[in-house]
Amino acid sequence: MDATRERLAGRRERGSEAPSISEDRGLALLCPGDLNIYSVGISTAGVGEARMARADPRRRVIATTVDPHGGAVARSFVAGEGLSGQIDVRIEDVRRTLPHPDEAFDFVYSRLALHYLTPVDLDRALRELRRVLRDERRLFCVVRSVAGMGVDSHTVRYDAASHATIGVRPDGSTVRAERYLQTNASIVGHVERAGFVVESVADYDEVLFADFERRLAPGPDHVIEVVAHRPG
Ligand SMILES: C[S@@+](CC[C@H](N)C(=O)[O-])C[C@H]1O[C@@H](n2cnc3c(N)ncnc32)[C@H](O)[C@@H]1O
Repeated sequence: MDATRERLAGRRERGSEAPSISEDRGLALLCPGDLNIYSVGISTAGVGEARMARADPRRRVIATTVDPHGGAVARSFVAGEGLSGQIDVRIEDVRRTLPHPDEAFDFVYSRLALHYLTPVDLDRALRELRRVLRDERRLFCVVRSVAGMGVDSHTVRYDAASHATIGVRPDGSTVRAERYLQTNASIVGHVERAGFVVESVADYDEVLFADFERRLAPGPDHVIEVVAHRPG
């Protein structure tokens, strides 16, 4: 157990100790030279970002959200961990021009945030993330997959008017997910269109967190993970 997880032991009964497959996989990709990290969409208290910071005291993490309440929860957790000097929790919208210079970051981490965007916003956001990433440095992104909807994949469509992904179950009933859920091909297409080189794509079941305390959802969802880099 790393130090951050140990410090959370007092909150174990509330679920905050719960591990995350995709968070672990993203953190495992960090290299010793990755000192400036941009994390898009902080919400489950900032535990992942705290683990990044603890692994190297020289590391600086800018962690963003569009949710002021989530930002306040994360800021308070970060302060309690004594990591405010390393982790800057900010309200920033990845759909907008980011207030950071070109090539400001060594690693972009985005776990379960980019499927909140429409296709047009997703393309724009990924172009911005490429702009702020240094050459040859990595983007790690995890999005929810249409495979978690329990529908026939050929029935799935994105409805722009309601910003929902809609599919039909084998029994004929309709399922709606209020996000732009992805297939492996669709998220790879977005990442490549933004100018990244995709290194790997993986999809797997993961029981996601249901709240800031990292309480687990009742059952598994299906996620897609893309690792890519900005070519030099
Ligand atoms: C499910 S949570 C992400 C979980 C977190 N990354 C983790 O690993 O536990 C989704 C987050 O994305 C954020 N988000 C949604 N739209 C966003 C946007 N346009 N810009 C920045 N963050 C956004 C939400 O505010 C929320 O913090």
